[in-house]
Amino acid sequence: MQIVERRLMNRIDANITLGRLVNERPASVSLLERLRLDYCCGGAQTLAEACARRGLDQHTVCAVLEALEETPAQLPELEEFDWRRASLGELCDHIVERHHEGLRRELPRIEELLRTVVRVHGPGHAGLHDLQRTFVGMSEELLPHLELEERVFFPAARKLEVDGAVVDEPLLQKHEHDHEHVGDSLTALRELTSDYRADRALCGTHRALLDALRSLEQDLHQHIHEENNVLLPRVRALNAMASTPTANGGGEP
Ligand SMILES: [Fe+2]
Ligand SMILES: [Fe+2]
Repeated sequence: MQIVERRLMNRIDANITLGRLVNERPASVSLLERLRLDYCCGGAQTLAEACARRGLDQHTVCAVLEALEETPAQLPELEEFDWRRASLGELCDHIVERHHEGLRRELPRIEELLRTVVRVHGPGHAGLHDLQRTFVGMSEELLPHLELEERVFFPAARKLEVDGAVVDEPLLQKHEHDHEHVGDSLTALRELTSDYRADRALCGTHRALLDALRSLEQDLHQHIHEENNVLLPRVRALNAMASTPTANGGGEP
């Protein structure tokens, strides 16, 4: 009886959005990654919509996701903390320490690997030049984006939480727009590397490059998910509260 009740509670409604699914069930990330269901920039789409887009049967996907919850011991390392419960300041600190600092280490390291691979194998493999161009373009967009978050957006989010100073909506939209660009670059990188297939590596350095790109993609998915589907909705909710007449001491309706 207990098992039946647990299974019923464990049921997944295919109308849940992917962003909410990942927030409520972090274990789902591994399957969403494998099935290429976009839960970061595409976090507002429902599981049913995402499955339809990829030509997947939503009932089968729901069943596998539910089964994942039954076998937590087999899951890879997951984000254990529920960042929806943290203060905005804590969430911003986490994003900087976990994701931004990692990116500042990894982007130059991957660029160096790419330089080596292109120098050695570029003459016979024109696609490597496209890979390098796409990666460098993404990196050049990402670094100023991190700066903008740390200098402008995150301080504004902290201020909103402390004294109710509204964060400009165009700033929030710019972040979403930047994230979409990164998502498009990640899709292109995956296509240019045939899904980071190690068996197509031309040498050990190329294999290390493919591994690094795969890890970077996974981290960026989690990073953008935390910003798009946790941070931005919370900022918008606080913005709305701060803009109501009761919250600002009454005034014009
Ligand atoms: Fe960020
Ligand atoms: Fe961002």
